[in-house]
Amino acid sequence: MDIIVSENVTGSAMDELRERFDVVFEPDLWNDVPRLKSLLGDARAIIVRNQTQVTAELMAAAPKLEVIGRAGAGLDNIETDAASEAGVVVTYAPRENSISVAELTIGLMLCLARKIPAAHLDTSEGRWNRKAFTGIELFGKTLGVIGLGQIGTMVAERAKAFGMTIIVHDDYVAPDANHVKELDARLVSLDDLLCEADFVTTHVPLTDETREMFNKERFAMMKPSAMLINTSRGEVVDEEALLHALKNQQLAGAALDVRSVEPPGQSPLDKLDNVIFTPHIAAFTEEAQDRVVSTVCSDVTRVLEGREAENFFNFPLPRN
Ligand code: MLT
Repeated sequence: MDIIVSENVTGSAMDELRERFDVVFEPDLWNDVPRLKSLLGDARAIIVRNQTQVTAELMAAAPKLEVIGRAGAGLDNIETDAASEAGVVVTYAPRENSISVAELTIGLMLCLARKIPAAHLDTSEGRWNRKAFTGIELFGKTLGVIGLGQIGTMVAERAKAFGMTIIVHDDYVAPDANHVKELDARLVSLDDLLCEADFVTTHVPLTDETREMFNKERFAMMKPSAMLINTSRGEVVDEEALLHALKNQQLAGAALDVRSVEPPGQSPLDKLDNVIFTPHIAAFTEEAQDRVVSTVCSDVTRVLEGREAENFFNFPLPRN
């Protein structure tokens, strides 16, 4: 066997991959670690989304592994140091999702501002409650963007079209960077961003620095009228602290596409009427998925055929 696909990665590029290689496709395999380990004994490649935890232990069970293909941008479910130590190439799709994530972020911001999900539910139950669903405009409001990579930039560009003022926090971007200037944005400290913004959106990877970045203290800094949108990683938000902030009017609303545990099961957040949930679908559009699957299948093919990967995190060819 050549390739294990341990999550739901489908599409025409995957069909082509199956024509060239011996592929085991088991979309729920991520949830059965003993079976995954036993199958990995023979595999040269594994293709995952974000649910398979590709740990050092898992890689130790995969002596023939040459490449890990991550069908998405985030690498927080892959122990990349262990992969590099084992000489295994890590490939991913760092840009292919960006437009879709940016569009969902704007969609969630509009849903929060205009209470669209609650208004839909109420109306579909036979009521006609116009006053109850009085919202606010985005025009003239300040959007705080945390993380000005490709997604953060695309969100800011789109928000500008709504007449929003953009402030940005990113430790890795210089104040005179071109994209900051083009957005007419102000680069500020995280504390200043939290104090000033009417909407806050986060586009950071999950790292030790960003884990629970939104905690009790940070929520206390935000305007009581502010709203948070998280389409990055659930663990960036301390959900207990979010619950406390929403219940105590420290924050007016939140839209969460990602959760600290996925799937989250029942949570006290479910009972609040100022929270909107979606099931980690920011990258799930037909267009983004075609691009993601095609990129990852192409790079896995290249590595297995002895050619350099194009979108690699560590190195383009296996080192074992
Ligand atoms: C990503 O990291 O690309 C997105 O969050 C989607 C995913 O995790 O599959």
